[in-house]
Amino acid sequence: MKVPFFNYPQLYLSQKERMDNAISSVVEKGAYILQEELVHFENKLAEYTNSKYAIGVANGTDAIWLALLAADVGVGDEVIVPSHTYIASPAAIKFVGAEPILAECGDDHLLDPNDIEKRITNRTKVIMPVQLNGRTCNMDKIIDIAKKNNLLIIEDAAQGLGSLYKNKMAGTFGLAGTYSFYPAKVLGCFGDGGAVVTNDKTIYSKVSEMRDHGRDDSGEHVSWGY
Ligand SMILES: Cc1ncc(COP(=O)(O)O)c(C=O)c1O
Repeated sequence: MKVPFFNYPQLYLSQKERMDNAISSVVEKGAYILQEELVHFENKLAEYTNSKYAIGVANGTDAIWLALLAADVGVGDEVIVPSHTYIASPAAIKFVGAEPILAECGDDHLLDPNDIEKRITNRTKVIMPVQLNGRTCNMDKIIDIAKKNNLLIIEDAAQGLGSLYKNKMAGTFGLAGTYSFYPAKVLGCFGDGGAVVTNDKTIYSKVSEMRDHGRDDSGEHVSWGY
């Protein structure tokens, strides 16, 4: 059987006038990068996910990478990640210099809390649940394990926008959570896009600066960024 891929043109054509108006309003103003449309989107995303802060970044992989960097995860650290995920989750861990440690998945195809404990060493710094296919991991158990072992939780919720666990949005259970707006994602855009959400002011400031070449709110370059 041949399964057709996501029908991108149909999605655009179904709302063509609305999309065209949105695109031309940006293009006519020349307002491409870090402009009011992004701020509006970040505010909406923060509200929708019930997070204090949402920071738009270039894609979902950068979102994971920047969240890990902001949490000071790096060389010598281990991050526990499920064996079933997209390659971007372990790749982002690799790119901060840390080691991805694969844990088994349960019957729900998500990170199995029982397997996490077997993977913890004295180098483990983060548990990275990945919220896949509209499902959400057993976050109560994962939070318990993280608390008991003094570990951070950084969620890869690239596919999880809108998924709820006990009425709380995927991506909002740990220090930071990340989303992808790749065109075929739950909320797809015309190209690449991603975001980090957090309630932590330091993570917010660090990710905001790093995504804008180290610039802070006053426009000064106060740190190294990308
Ligand atoms: C689970 C997961 N993590 C990370 C990513 C990376 O997102 P992006 O393609 O926006 O970099 C994706 C999707 O591609 C994904 O499905």
